[in-house]
Formats: sequence, C-alpha cells, structure tokens
Amino acid sequence: MADKGGFPHFMIKEIFEQPEGLRKTIAPRVSLEDGVVRLDTVHISAEELRALRRINIVASGTSRHAGMAGQYMIQELVNLPVDVDYASEFEYRNPLIGPGEITIVITQSGETADTTAAQREAKAKGSRTIAISNVVDSTIAREADGVLYTHAGPEISIASTKAFTAQMAVLFLFALYLGQVRGKLGKEQRKQYIRELLDLPGKVETILQSAADCEQMAAKFYKNDDFLYMGRAAHYPIAMDGALKLKETSYIHAEGYPTGESKHGPIAMIDENLPVVIIATCDRNDPGSVLRYEKNISNIRGFKQQGARVIAIGTAGDEQLRGLADHTIFVPEAPELLLPILEIVPLQLFAYYVAVRRGLDVDRPRNLVKSVTLE
Ligand code: F6R
Repeated sequence: MADKGGFPHFMIKEIFEQPEGLRKTIAPRVSLEDGVVRLDTVHISAEELRALRRINIVASGTSRHAGMAGQYMIQELVNLPVDVDYASEFEYRNPLIGPGEITIVITQSGETADTTAAQREAKAKGSRTIAISNVVDSTIAREADGVLYTHAGPEISIASTKAFTAQMAVLFLFALYLGQVRGKLGKEQRKQYIRELLDLPGKVETILQSAADCEQMAAKFYKNDDFLYMGRAAHYPIAMDGALKLKETSYIHAEGYPTGESKHGPIAMIDENLPVVIIATCDRNDPGSVLRYEKNISNIRGFKQQGARVIAIGTAGDEQLRGLADHTIFVPEAPELLLPILEIVPLQLFAYYVAVRRGLDVDRPRNLVKSVTLE
C-alpha cells in the first residue's frame, strides 16, 4: 500500500516529488562532460532517425498537454514538423501518416484505451512508434518499437502532476537526442541544454518553497466558479493543464486559451467576476520570448481595464509584472523551452489548495478513474 509520507493527500505528495522524478528521469541519460544524450531504448536506428520526415504525437488529457509543449521543443531544436492529436480523435481524421515517420504515444499509465487504439492505427499505417510511459511493461510500452520511461514513481492521485513534468523532460531529451543524431545541435549547444536540464530539479524545489503563497491565493479565489487561463506558444499547453487541474480537482469551470485568441471572443466575458490566470514568464536571452512577454503585458493591461483580477506566473525579479498583476507567482529563470516545466508547478499547487478549501476528495475526484481503459 502506498502511503502519503506525512502529506495529507497523494496529490500534494506527488507535487512535492517532482524534483526527484525529474532527477531520476534526466540524470542517467545525459553526460554534461561530453555533451551527449543517451537514449538506448529508442530502438530506431540512427539512419532511420536521420531520414525522418515528420513526427506525430498522440495522447489524452494531461499527457497530450505534455505533447503540445513537446511539439515546440522538437520543432525548435530539430526543425522537423510535428503534429499533435487527441488520441480519442485520431481515428476520425484518417491521419495521413506512414513510413518515414515516428508516432510518439505519451501515457502515464500505459493503458489508456484511446491511446492504445491510436498507437495501433499508427503502426498499421507503417509509422514507427515510441512510447513515453511511467509504467514499466505497460500495454502501450510493450507494443511500441521504442520506449522512453518517465521515472516519476507511481502516481496515485487521479490528477496527474509529477508524470506531466517528467513527460516534458523526456520530450526535451528526445529533441536533444534527435538534434544530436541528425547533426542539428553542436556539442556546446547540447552541453548548455544539458546543464539547464540538470538545473531543473533545484528550480522546482525553489518554486515549492512558495507553496504558502499559492495556498493564500487559493484562499482568496476558491469561491469563484469560473476562471480563464491563458498562455502563448509552449506556455499555452500549460494554461490548458492548469485549467484542467482546477476542473478535475475542484469542479470549477476553467478554460485554457491561447492569450492572443482572447480578443477573438473570450474578452467579452472578462470582468471582475472572471479571474484571469496568465503565464507571463520571459527568457531575456530569447527575442521570441521577449516579444511574447511584451504582448502578454499589453494583454494584462487590457484585462485590468476590464476589471479582471489577474493572477500572473512570471520570472523571478520581474517588478513590472508584480506592479501590474493582482497576484504574481515567480518561477526561476530558464530557457524559453524549459520554462513550461516550471510554470505548471504553481498552477498544480493552486488547484490543489482550491480543492482542499472546497472540502473535496482531492485524490479521487468524482466520475474520474486513474486509467481510462474503456473507449
Ligand atoms: C489529468 C489526467 C488525465 C490523464 C489522461 C491520460 O490530470 O490525469 O487527463 O492525463 O486520462 O492518461 P494517461 O497518461 O495514463 O494515458
């Protein structure tokens, strides 16, 4: 029997286990000294990887959100087109996939029926498959050509937390590995990214030290019945996942939206009764990230003018953001593509503390099961 190790719920225990899960997932696969990523279980030859034309990612729920962040990582580092699908929708769009492609199936449990069906369809069409799973020898892991395990440890709480951050870390490792095999990333670049990956667990520890701030924020907001979560680019899936965590643990209506899309509809709803959670971090070394940040700042000004209360996730030391938003939670600095792994942590904490405030069964929300084995 798994025990809660002194925590009141598995969800909060698992949120706090993320530094360890990341460490175990990343460290054995990288060598900082020679800038090499070793993924021995990919089981697809270097020749085939060099000839790859496209990557498809299929998954469900939170695992699909990891895939959406992974899409940015792979496209950016390897310059390969990446498509992301809902596993449950995969068969309906008759996906045009085939040989010369890899389909990555992401699943914590390795047993999700929709994801298994999508994997079988991809295989039947001639695509190679790689499973990213947290459960050794699960059905999806067994049926894949290659498997990259997340070493997050058993996840008991229905809301997925530590598996998610480990999945994004594996996707980043895979992007680095592809860049290495395909000659897209030089040794020095790889070393730099490996160093940043190895720094992630410590940065997550820093965020966890601000758990009390997230708890205070939850105390202010837990009576609200609607929330809008927003983010741009690789941070949009984090907005989606933050909203999903709140929905499933607190039964609060929350929508994840790409920030730039808000002016095409959702801002009509924004007023003092609809709090906005916005991911407004910034990697100052990345011009694209700076642009994204500036657009977010201008969006926040607009939301404030409409009377919204704004909760912002920002980068440490950002006084401009602190002055603008009603509540700001900071994450340490990191490269643009790794920030998502940090940004989700305060949103997980917020969802957890809101559910606790509402007196709900945090680990076992109504109508949900840990592994959805029926289509
Ligand atoms: C959300 C959650 C679900 C799962 C989804 C896929 O917190 O847990 O959305 O992510 O059911 O499950 P796996 O990853 O086991 O395939």
